[in-house]
Amino acid sequence: MEDSQGIPLLHKLIEHKKKNPISFHVPGHKNGQVFPSHSEDLFKSILSIDLTEITELDDLYVPEGAIKQAQILAAEWFQVDASYFLVNGSTVGNLIMIMATCGPGDLVLVQRNCHKSILNGLELSGAKPIFLTPEYDTEVNRYGAPSTKTLEEAIHKYTNIKALILTYPDYFGRTYPLKEKIELAHAQKIPVLIDEAHGVHFSLPFIDQPSAIELGADIVVQSAHKMAPAMTMAAYLHINSAYVNKERVEHYYQMLQSSSPSYPIMASLDVARFYLQNFKAEQMTNLQESIDLIKNELEACDYVKVLETTSLDDPLKITLETINGVSAREVARLFEKEGIYPELVTTNQILLIVGLEPYIDLESLKKSIKSVNKQLILQPKHDTINKYTELFISKIQTLHYAYNEMRSMETKIEKLEEAIGEVAAEQIIPYPPGIPLIAKGEKITKNQVDHIVELLNKGVSFQPRDVKKGIRIFL
Ligand SMILES: Cc1ncc(COP(=O)(O)O)c(C=O)c1O
Repeated sequence: MEDSQGIPLLHKLIEHKKKNPISFHVPGHKNGQVFPSHSEDLFKSILSIDLTEITELDDLYVPEGAIKQAQILAAEWFQVDASYFLVNGSTVGNLIMIMATCGPGDLVLVQRNCHKSILNGLELSGAKPIFLTPEYDTEVNRYGAPSTKTLEEAIHKYTNIKALILTYPDYFGRTYPLKEKIELAHAQKIPVLIDEAHGVHFSLPFIDQPSAIELGADIVVQSAHKMAPAMTMAAYLHINSAYVNKERVEHYYQMLQSSSPSYPIMASLDVARFYLQNFKAEQMTNLQESIDLIKNELEACDYVKVLETTSLDDPLKITLETINGVSAREVARLFEKEGIYPELVTTNQILLIVGLEPYIDLESLKKSIKSVNKQLILQPKHDTINKYTELFISKIQTLHYAYNEMRSMETKIEKLEEAIGEVAAEQIIPYPPGIPLIAKGEKITKNQVDHIVELLNKGVSFQPRDVKKGIRIFL
């Protein structure tokens, strides 16, 4: 790349590469010169900038040069007090924001249908989660966010709450009125931590959905790699608040990330910010046109409907819902057979995510959909679970045991049916999306087990292991 002005970290890496440097430092591939020949071509260009903290290239944990400049430019673009580059995704960002704000025994309000990294962060910190049950959103047939009323009740019920943790938008790109929740929390001086893994592009003025930063959140974590052109694992943590102790964030920032952060990932964060900053209205128009055309083609698929994109929904996410009793997994299987790879498949929905530029060949999409239609005619139809499954007992829930108690308790694997009424000693996570169906320390309900069985019958995979063999429970 000739013109790397305005992208300081990338620029430094390119300058270094131009010197044909002799590497007597890690990594072992020596700027790509020591690499197995069978895969050299594939890796070569990226390895040439896969460097380490040599002079000129700055240090992520004591930034004074190019990394510092790149982070300042990011903070300016996202309009925050400080932006930090993350090399282990929003996963590590969520761990950092929780560790920096919550300690052992601290009460934390948290949306129950959060990503597993939020629950992992709470367990690591030893905080006491108070789960806010999400509302079922009948418009999209999924659980959404907890209501403001539920939040109000929790704030009223508990004192000395250390943080409110919410996910915004959800995996499907759906937002909700976040500002009123932030204001409620702030009225009690409770910092609001937002997992905005799916919303880095909300920083664009052409996207109608506001970012949590704009709505007043105190810490916001964004996976640049999910919705912007950045390498996998590239993410940002933004601080925008006097409520947050920056030193504590920086302490866990260097503790929880690798001491050898990847320069290609960091440079891609610099590139992603530059890309967003230079994104033009005309590009947005082209993108919207392309999304409309893609949706048109998808509408031709006989057994799915394209859910309407409302003012709450990210325009880059397309959700297909199966109709006429066809299983979403079956449709997705046929899509994949035709070379179309969705992001996520649930029992009744398929999530497709597009990039910020048109890149889909509509003709080949049309052909693939035609072929899927032909094959679907021949398929036996299955019942889908469009019905609403009540997964939560009450609007506000706590764990049965505190995390520090759980550390020393004995556990065993119990058969699914027999685990009902027992306390889970592990998270049970349908993957993707990575939202625990059962949280560690939660009493297992019949509805949860029934839902697991239903998902298993639909071929859904689970973490941390094959749940058919049972669930780990506390003795
Ligand atoms: C809501 C949410 N938060 C956090 C994460 C973790 O993000 P990352 O993959 O960047 O670590 C994900 C990943 O899918 C997610 O969906």
